[in-house]
Amino acid sequence: METATPEARSRELEERIAADPAAFRILTGDRPTGPLHLGHYFGTLANRVRLQRAGAELFIVIPDYQVITDRDVADHLTAHVEGLVADYLAAGIDPSAATIFRHSAVPALNQLMLPFLSLVTVGELSRNPTVKDEIAASRQASVSGLMFTYPVHQAADILFCKANLVPVGKDQLPHQEITRTVARRFNDRYGTVFPVPEALLSAAPLLLGTDGHKMGKSRGNAIALSAGPDETARLIKRAVTDTERQITYEPETRPQVSNLVLLADLCQDRDPHTVAAEIGSGGASALKKVVTDSVNEFLHPIRTRRTALIADRTHLRRVLAEGNTRANEIADRTLHEVRTAMDS
Ligand code: TRP
Repeated sequence: METATPEARSRELEERIAADPAAFRILTGDRPTGPLHLGHYFGTLANRVRLQRAGAELFIVIPDYQVITDRDVADHLTAHVEGLVADYLAAGIDPSAATIFRHSAVPALNQLMLPFLSLVTVGELSRNPTVKDEIAASRQASVSGLMFTYPVHQAADILFCKANLVPVGKDQLPHQEITRTVARRFNDRYGTVFPVPEALLSAAPLLLGTDGHKMGKSRGNAIALSAGPDETARLIKRAVTDTERQITYEPETRPQVSNLVLLADLCQDRDPHTVAAEIGSGGASALKKVVTDSVNEFLHPIRTRRTALIADRTHLRRVLAEGNTRANEIADRTLHEVRTAMDS
């Protein structure tokens, strides 16, 4: 079982979720560095909404302290946090059944981190490939201690509520391994307190940015859920394609064109080959028109809901305050259990 690929393991998990959704407590989260985009939507948000509707319990952490891993200061933090809450609710997450909270509002998470740090080695932390990539991409002159240790506070984000399922993108798998290691070693050393949580990968193929590279909030290649139809059209117009007029879906040999086909396919919930065949020999301009229309049509209801949500800050703050209170109650209880286990 342990040797199965994460993809195979995820398919197996989907079967268990379908059979008994209420057996799963899900925790996942997004750094508050800007608005969520279509990559987030198809990579994880749609999954969260689906799992919540199926009957799993949902926790979402907004890890504000993680923002200062690869930059000196976090800009517009509260605005970004409230923007994320609006994105979640606009995408269909039900706030009355989910616990949405901000990391810095739950002090016990940071107290859990100290014993957790004793359970991992410096070697394990410095070998983490995602941390290495982030260090390489960072514009900071030197690497902070937080950069190496944030996967351990991520373990606290996940374990405090005894989540057993973590829907994530592939880049988060090394962190997920650290969380599992922390849970296992804690249980071995002090008696069983934590479940060993599983990573759940999305079944949707990875959506790239309009330039054919990883879609990123700060790379100018991402279509935000909150972007207007004109901005969407502008971004897609600038998208990189090739000179062949016949549109096909061949991700290996035509990554940029195929990525646009995939985007239209995801928005229309159809098959990428059918979408490509319909455009036929229309070339890049026909492709871009189909993609723009599909995205704008798909996002229309989400954008309408988001506009209304953003206009009612009091409601967004209340959702967050309730989430913070609930997360604090659970985190305090878990911290008490951890202290008791370590004391006996
Ligand atoms: N590291 C994640 C990111 O960069 C955010 C995150 C923080 C997270 N805590 C988490 C994701 C717990 C899943 C579970 O986006």
